[in-house]
Amino acid sequence: MDAFVTVQNLKKKFGELVAVDNLNFEVFAGEIFGFLGPNGAGKSTTLNILTGLLACDQGEITVAGLDLAHDARRIKALIGIVPQDVAVFESLTARENVAYYAGLYGLAGARLKAAVAEALAFVGLAEHAKQRAGKMSGGMKRRLNIACGIAHNPKLIVLDEPTVGVDAQSREHIMGSIRTLRDRGATIIYTSHYMPEVQEICDRIAIIDHGKLVGSGTEEELLEVVTDIKTVTEQLRAPNATQLEQALAKLSVLPDVRHVALDEDASLLRIDVALGLDDITPLLAVLLEQGIRTEAINSEAPDLETTFLALTGRELR
Ligand SMILES: Nc1ncnc2c1ncn2[C@@H]1O[C@H](COP(=O)(O)OP(=O)(O)O)[C@@H](O)[C@H]1O
Ligand SMILES: [Mg+2]
Repeated sequence: MDAFVTVQNLKKKFGELVAVDNLNFEVFAGEIFGFLGPNGAGKSTTLNILTGLLACDQGEITVAGLDLAHDARRIKALIGIVPQDVAVFESLTARENVAYYAGLYGLAGARLKAAVAEALAFVGLAEHAKQRAGKMSGGMKRRLNIACGIAHNPKLIVLDEPTVGVDAQSREHIMGSIRTLRDRGATIIYTSHYMPEVQEICDRIAIIDHGKLVGSGTEEELLEVVTDIKTVTEQLRAPNATQLEQALAKLSVLPDVRHVALDEDASLLRIDVALGLDDITPLLAVLLEQGIRTEAINSEAPDLETTFLALTGRELR
């Protein structure tokens, strides 16, 4: 996979505070890359450096093969920024706001008009084109903020906590729009301190804490850092001892089974299996073969929340 963005040895201090501490990561072309970390982790600082808004103390960044230190202007032309703090003009209408930002990227005339209309329709604000931003709800302003960042059709879209403070409906709309932008070919960096969102839309995730990268990869890869097993528990109905003994022996030699254990009254069976095992019918087949009946079954995989805790030693929220 091609890296569209590379960040190497990035450092940034504010006085004595180390906000970004030797950060390294790559964003592949055409993916949604999630940047996950608690408040103050250094996410916005990193993105502000990456988008040329803030100077770093040390490090190399490339975007589309261009070096940020030498080609900042060309890089900026490829990027669309959706800042954490909504940056729209309250006294301007939705259309005027988007036209202002798209104009900064050199769009004019008929092309500008078409791009503005398309961006507003994309975020579901076509009917509100003439409404002043100051009169909009929080969720609508967030959507307008996105329209302002994407109207010029950027190759790389950087969204910094785009769903903070929005209602459920706007959130769904925003999530869907981001997927659509990816499917149309854009590369996306998505920042959040909200785990379920990152889990829902990101192809790969970087976990950052105290300015440091503590883990990165697909959700599965991150989970595997913490554990490579999941546990299947089965509540058995009055199993016969001999049948049970045979079932345990057979289960323990199945390829993806790591450990089999029974609780004291021999009714709850715990089977540790490989994390990647997604078909548990062979486990059930063994029990069935021995005439053992199962009342209830449950499969517990570790989640990203557990992983985050294990990697950083603290809860996300
Ligand atoms: N302009 C600044 N001056 C001083 N400290 C800052 C500035 N910007 C951010 N910080 C500090 O740097 C750290 C990282 O902040 P930030 O990148 O905004 O984190 P995040 O976006 O992950 O919440 C925080 O401790 C924050 O207080
Ligand atoms: Mg931030």
